[in-house]
This record gives sequence, structure tokens and C-alpha cells, in this order.
Amino acid sequence: MVGSGGREHALAIGLSESTSVSVVHCCPGNAGTSMVGINHDVSASDIDAIVSLSLELGVGLVVVGPEAPLVSGLADQLRAQSIPCFGPHSEGAMLEGSKLNAKKVMQSIGVPTGGFEIVKEQSMIEPTLDSFEPPWVVKRDVLAGGKGVTVTSSRSEASKSVREAIDEDGFALVEQFLSGEEASVLVIMDESGYIMLPPSQDHKRASDGDEGPNTGGMGAYAPAPIATPTVLTRVREEIVEPMHHFLRNETIPYRGCLYVGLMIDSNGSPSVVEFNVRLGDPEAQVTIPLIESDLGLLLLASASGEISEMEVEFRPMNSTTVVLASEGYPGEVFTGRKISGWDVQIEEGQVSGFVHLAGANFDSDGLLLSSGGRVLSATGLAPTLEEALEAAYQIIDGIALEGSHYRSDIGFRALSR
Ligand code: GLY
Repeated sequence: MVGSGGREHALAIGLSESTSVSVVHCCPGNAGTSMVGINHDVSASDIDAIVSLSLELGVGLVVVGPEAPLVSGLADQLRAQSIPCFGPHSEGAMLEGSKLNAKKVMQSIGVPTGGFEIVKEQSMIEPTLDSFEPPWVVKRDVLAGGKGVTVTSSRSEASKSVREAIDEDGFALVEQFLSGEEASVLVIMDESGYIMLPPSQDHKRASDGDEGPNTGGMGAYAPAPIATPTVLTRVREEIVEPMHHFLRNETIPYRGCLYVGLMIDSNGSPSVVEFNVRLGDPEAQVTIPLIESDLGLLLLASASGEISEMEVEFRPMNSTTVVLASEGYPGEVFTGRKISGWDVQIEEGQVSGFVHLAGANFDSDGLLLSSGGRVLSATGLAPTLEEALEAAYQIIDGIALEGSHYRSDIGFRALSR
């Protein structure tokens, strides 16, 4: 398992609970993965070292958490050594690595998404912005962990963002703003078929009420009721089927997760906001606990082109996760601070609660210290969303980390439906 965030802790838990998996090795992992697997001091960006370690250990499957190693060709290198890899090859990973590439693919096969313009000349900035209604959406065509996107109603800020992108990258993308409610659908895919996991909803803004700066995600829940059965049928027919048809016919088939970031408008019409080529974080933390079937077999099937032979069972439960972030996040953060109260679990009938660790590591005395922006998330699993939220908040309320913050309104859209 490659990566070191909360998503990777969720993957490592799911894999370690799979009867098909004997041991989980993590590169580099975090404090959470060290409790369910073996961490190795190998960076997720060191492709040669990951391939060498995989050969040395004789692993049966490599599961890649983040997108950057995929864009850099980790899956290509592993497959060249006949090591099954859950995660697409570098060309497939360009669905996330280049927003322009994703837009062109969608345009060519008629997948619904917002209109866009490429701006290369400074003289075209104002005419292009004139042709879109505010708020303006300006994107850099780089892998920037969500940081290359500006959504603003300020014309001067929009102009500045376009100008900076042209200076940095030679061009900017200006996109139509899509209104509605967002949802994420993770699709486990290979050339033989695909499986749509239960829909989830992230909370990308730092503060309650969707205020404040954009983050990697401050909490999530699944299933997201905005994605009704009717909406999901449209997502399947209008987005997933054409994308699967396109990807299965590429020279090298796409094996891994296609993360479909959706905007669902007030008529229930879905459009693609973005594709990612991996599980979402924190969507993975709420989606993986809903998978009843053996996760190792599911991911191996996708890595081997045999997903059409898989039957996957889901738990008829609700899950939620609430992220605890370091002081300063999503800006410059304070790290190295002691975390207490994190090792609490709830088991009450069908309700359970536990912690996914992310930017956190043990020191030599076994104390848990913060080491990143998103430090951990408290996850609840229960028959209802309300009970799942209660479990997650009960846990997070008891955790102490100086200067940390979390949102107190995770799930508010679902609760107000
Ligand atoms: N939660 C958003 C993402 O994983 O990209």
C-alpha cells in the first residue's frame, strides 16, 4: 500500500481485515497503518524503491493511494515487473494529471461537464472572462492537490489567477461555474467491467456552512442521499458507461479507481466537475467501511482485469468521518504537537466509532504527534446517519490537539433533506 494519509489508513484497515490478505506493507504509511501493517521508510514518490521493495517482498498486489506516483508511472513500472497494481498507468492517470486532457476526453465522448476556454494570451483574459457568468472558475493545468483552482466572484481576482497561470504554465483554463450539490462516486474499474461504490459527499471548505478556504476535505458521509437511485442511473448511463467504454478501448486498459466528482443540479442532472484516478480522501474513509466483501479480492480483481467476475456486497449502513486539522490548515500548519484521546473506540450494538489516522506519527516513546495538515478523522458507522454522526462527534470531541479545528456540521445537507 502506497501513501500516508487517512485514505491509506482506511485502505490498510480494509486490506488487513480481508481474509485474502496475509500482511500489509506500507510505503511509507503513518501511525495508523503501523497498527495494522508494516511501515517501510520508502517515500510514495520513490518509484524505483517501491518497485524494488515489492520484488524483494514478493507482494501479490500493490495498492496506490495518491495520484502523484500514478502520474509518474508507478503502475507502468510495476506491471513491467508482472506485479499487479491497483491504480492506472501514467496515461490513464492524466485524467487527473491534466484537467485539459479530462475536458477533451469528456467533450469527445459527450460526457456532461461545464464549458471551458483555454486562455494563452494576456490580451484574451478579459474577453474570455466576459464570456462566462460569475463566479469565475480558473484552473491551472497542473497536479496541485486542489490548490490550482480559483472560484471567485471578484473579477480582479479572476483576472489575476488567469494571468498567473499563463505566466507559470503558458495557459489557463476558464470554466463554466456549475451550481447544485456535489457528490463523489468511486468506480472500481478495469477493461472487463466496473463496480460503482456507494455515493459519498465531501465537505471541501474549512469552516461550517461551507465557508472559508478550500481544503483537501474536512469530512464526508456515505451514502449521500442527493445521489438518488434515479440520479445514479443517469450517472451510470451518461458518465460511467461512456468513460468505461473509452478507457477499456485504450491501448493499455485502465485498472483502478475512477473518482467521478459530480455536480447534481436542481433537476437531478449530473455533470462532471473533475475526475481523479484514485479513491478520494476523506471519501475512502466512509466508503471502505461500507464494503462487506473482501477488499483485497476486489482490488486484486481490478488490478488483474477480472472485475466482471466479482460480486460485491455492501453493508446497509451509514458512515461519516469528521476531519481534525492542525492549527493553520489549509495554510502553513503547526506540527509535532501531542495528540491525546485518539485511541477511543465505540462499539454499541450496530453503532461503531473509531479513528482514521492521517498526518500523525508515533515518536520513540510511542506518543502520537501531529505531522501534517489533516491529522486524523473520527469515523462513525451506524444504521442511520444521525447515529453515525453522533459516534464520530463523540470521539472527536474527546481528542485534544493544541490549536486544532474541525467542522461541526458534517452531513448538514443530508440532514436537511
Ligand atoms: N476529497 C477530494 C479528493 O480526494 O480529491
